[in-house]
Amino acid sequence: MAETGKDIIRAKSLLEAGKLVGIPTETVYGLAGNALNPDAVASIFETKKRPSFDPLIIHSDSMEKIKRWVLEIPEKLKILADEFWPGPLTLLLPREAIVPDLVTSGLDRVAVRIPSHPLTLELLKSLEFPLAAPSANPFGYISPTRPEHVQKQLGDQIPYILDGGACKVGLESTIVGIEDEQIFIYRLGGLDVREIEALVGPVQIKTHSSSNPAAPGLLESHYAPTKPFILGDLDQLIQDHQNKKVRMGILSLQRTFSNLPIESQMILSEKGDLKEAAQNLFAAMRALDEQDLDLILAERMPDHGLGKAINDRLNRAAAK
Ligand code: TXA
Ligand code: MG
Repeated sequence: MAETGKDIIRAKSLLEAGKLVGIPTETVYGLAGNALNPDAVASIFETKKRPSFDPLIIHSDSMEKIKRWVLEIPEKLKILADEFWPGPLTLLLPREAIVPDLVTSGLDRVAVRIPSHPLTLELLKSLEFPLAAPSANPFGYISPTRPEHVQKQLGDQIPYILDGGACKVGLESTIVGIEDEQIFIYRLGGLDVREIEALVGPVQIKTHSSSNPAAPGLLESHYAPTKPFILGDLDQLIQDHQNKKVRMGILSLQRTFSNLPIESQMILSEKGDLKEAAQNLFAAMRALDEQDLDLILAERMPDHGLGKAINDRLNRAAAK
């Protein structure tokens, strides 16, 4: 079991010693280590069982520090950073040689963000190095949005979890970069694309891995429960499975189904609010995955605002 608490000094000294710590952010919990220490970075990959071709995001608390680790910040990306940091935005920036190859999987750009969580910001402020932090889950599984999610899956492998409560956004950061003056979104996430476009004009979305060597980690199958996870029209799916004696879990935006046990139905937002749905998504998927069920049936969200990012996660969770 990892010790859990709000002791920033303890977290700091563990990180300075090359150890890993679970940290809260507004998006999801991270598995953090010193990004400039290749041994610490290697143990992040080992702990998560993450393939080394999948690069990591580095986290810091200020633009001044970030400038030590990147060659430049293109003007349009600077506009986004000024507006949305600290917040659920990750920028791909040309890296300085001091950033280890293992962090970027050898790519020329490093992913950087300033997260918005008071405990983690205070921790970052006290550190001279950035924290490499992927989501704190075994590779391919649902991301953690509460300290107990981290404890349950990685608690045996790390000494400390900084307890920042439940994550307010609940979806990973939106990943943004620029190629020849065109802004690209490489991962849909907690920052709505419309908010980005309002500042820098139309963006292109490029979230498919097979044709996208720039974001090798965006694998088709990800965020996946261990149970079969089927996405579609819930009425139809329930009808299709009803007579087969299978125990069904239901993940829906607002509706419950009176002919099924209520405890195996998870509603993401009673009022249909997509921000609230994003907040609840991963915890609801985990809760269903832990129940004694044969499969999980889920529906897509309305395709606007954060609904797009939620649908991206649902599609990957359902992919084989
Ligand atoms: O909200 C978040 O971003 C969370 C919190 C902890 O900050 N972190 C997170 O990290 O989601 P992770 O490792 O689970 O996902 C990072 C994604 C991967 O899909 C990876 O491929 C992509 O970012 N990425 C990282 N560095 C990259 C790079 N240099 N070029 C392209 N994609 C990169
Ligand atoms: Mg992840």
